[in-house]
Amino acid sequence: MKNSIRLRQFFLLLLLFYVVCACSNNEDASVDTTTPIAVSFEVLVSQQNPLRITVNNTSTGINGLNSYWQFSTNGPIVQDGNGPETHLYEASGTYVITLTVEAPDGDIQATETISVTGNELLALKDATDTFSVGMAVQSNRMNGQHGEILIREFNNLTAEFEMKMNTMYPSQGNYNFTAADAIVNYGVANNMNIHGHTLIWHNSIPDWVENFSGTDQEFETMIENYITTVVTRYAGQVRSWDVVNEAIEDGSNQLRNSVFRQRMGDDYIKKCYQWARAADPNALLFYNDYSITFDAGKQAAMFAIVDNLMSENLIDGVGAQMHIDIFFPTAAQIQSVVNGTVSRGLKMHFAELDVRVNPNNDISSLTEERAIAQQNKVREVVEIYDAIPDANKFAITIWGMRDNETWLVDFWGQPDWPLFYDAAFTPKKAHTGFLEGLD
Ligand code: XIL
Repeated sequence: MKNSIRLRQFFLLLLLFYVVCACSNNEDASVDTTTPIAVSFEVLVSQQNPLRITVNNTSTGINGLNSYWQFSTNGPIVQDGNGPETHLYEASGTYVITLTVEAPDGDIQATETISVTGNELLALKDATDTFSVGMAVQSNRMNGQHGEILIREFNNLTAEFEMKMNTMYPSQGNYNFTAADAIVNYGVANNMNIHGHTLIWHNSIPDWVENFSGTDQEFETMIENYITTVVTRYAGQVRSWDVVNEAIEDGSNQLRNSVFRQRMGDDYIKKCYQWARAADPNALLFYNDYSITFDAGKQAAMFAIVDNLMSENLIDGVGAQMHIDIFFPTAAQIQSVVNGTVSRGLKMHFAELDVRVNPNNDISSLTEERAIAQQNKVREVVEIYDAIPDANKFAITIWGMRDNETWLVDFWGQPDWPLFYDAAFTPKKAHTGFLEGLD
């Protein structure tokens, strides 16, 4: 009996000795020469994008040894750095992943076979629950394949032009809400937020307003009635409005000398926000403009307008138009308008996103390289947006569905492919870039 207790104590001591040795080896892995090499890894498939995987090297005893990945049989070698690696497959399929460790006595490998399916690509709107994903629409582009994509991918709707003044108020006293109603009803029926764009924009005014024949006071009353009528009509349906769009002159950064400023004075902006606020106190009111990421002077002028509106609680957010290209503006420039908006406690809208791939007019069809550059730029933009505190997030809105529908080709007079779907309604790499930005 005594002997067997001694024997047990001896084995316990021996076990303790091994455990202590093992622990001390783990603590100072750089001097590990005793742990046998065991090569292994784990694979995680992204929930956001089922074509994207993350691999994590879980091997033991490989300190100081070189290791690399191949994400398909005979695929390119990807160096195994510190921490997990991600890989994006271009298509659905079954792939053999290999991790190779270059051990002193020869390579040691671990493999795993995985199947990925990209057909069920996550919808843009389902990739985030902290902001909505918007699309600019036209009332005749909401059915058929347009409609399928709209309903699947988007939960925020903006009228590309049919809720601007020249469409809704074609002649004095005669409103035309046919197209606007169709868009708003469609959005409401499909549980989308509607972003109203835009009440006051110098570029979309009917001639009768531009050449208004009455007094300045009559002009002001007419604008007050216009804003009140439109905002009241859609109260409870349109969640947010761009009240004033593009009020700042390029270059001088002064107020643009629009008919609104000429007729109503410099504080026309404040008046418009007051009327909008009064008509629907629950609507979120935005100021929207372009070049405010990279043009520091314009950005400062914009925030001066915003601060003035904030002093009377007349504004809830800033819309930065994202008519950008694959080179410009930089991430830091985009971040600057985010910082100014967030530090004021306002909501940030990345509005009107399109990413030109041909700003220098040097290609005549979309190349693989440019499509990838566009994907990378979209990913960057979305990463910046996703890092915004939730309370300051609002929406990213894409300015049109298919490349062949973009306003930019007419605007610049040269070919481009700035959107997320090609003419056949197939999602482009830019679409993947958006999902990657949320991964
Ligand atoms: C553009 C639309 O895309 C066109 O269809 C329309 O003809 C003109 O306006 N800044 C804005 C948007 O705020 O309203 C503009 O949209 C693009 C520039």
